[in-house]
Amino acid sequence: MTRRYFIAGNWKMHNNTTETKELLTAMKQNFQNINDSEVMVAPSFTSLQTAKEILEGTQIIIASQDCHSEDKGAFTSAVSCPQLKEFVSHVILGHSERRSVFGDTDIVINKKLKATLAHQLVPVLCIGETLQERESNKTLEILKAQLDGGLAGFEEKDLETLIIAYEPVWAIGTGKTASPQQAQETHEQVRKHLADMYSQEFADKTRILYGGSVKPENVDELMGQTDIDGALVGGKSLEAESFLRIINFKK
Ligand code: PGA
Repeated sequence: MTRRYFIAGNWKMHNNTTETKELLTAMKQNFQNINDSEVMVAPSFTSLQTAKEILEGTQIIIASQDCHSEDKGAFTSAVSCPQLKEFVSHVILGHSERRSVFGDTDIVINKKLKATLAHQLVPVLCIGETLQERESNKTLEILKAQLDGGLAGFEEKDLETLIIAYEPVWAIGTGKTASPQQAQETHEQVRKHLADMYSQEFADKTRILYGGSVKPENVDELMGQTDIDGALVGGKSLEAESFLRIINFKK
């Protein structure tokens, strides 16, 4: 089963529209994609219109970093899928910062997933354990609970577009990366759980990205692992040159 690589940049709360324009223009001018990966960027809501204008006519996908589960209503500050659909085709859900800073639970994430799919947006569902959970041998238990909770109520046929991002919380923004072997082992376990939840065929075709301090120096080895199908990149997606090098990883 071949899974097309997927390289994504999560900009978090960085870049105003001028900076967005500069970064995407630099990326676009030097864009090459030797691996034929799918490439995605997720700017802040305020930069989505600018990103759309600049990336028009390119293959680069635009995503939002979150969405609300309702279509409209009295939800001050929130942004809904019908609103996002004007700009994006993909939505990141359940990022660890959404979970830890904003209190998104698996139940909330599950509702957001439902909205995302109802509006034909592609979900990138993030899962990951904290350092304490890893050290007390709870990694698998946590990841299974996040998958079971996040995907509750969905059938295999609903999840054809689903992308999973495994991001160990202790590796996000810390400069610490899971070793390629550690990441591979966990990805294999995640895939096995998807097979148990749905089917082997589903598990084999679902892409599982790795995230957590991915950089030019470690991307080649990470992407060389059998069950790693791409990367969700934070810090290094804010530098055109680094992100382009990551897109053009060498296996
Ligand atoms: P990082 O962030 O690459 O800066 O560690 C990854 C993420 O949060 O998606």
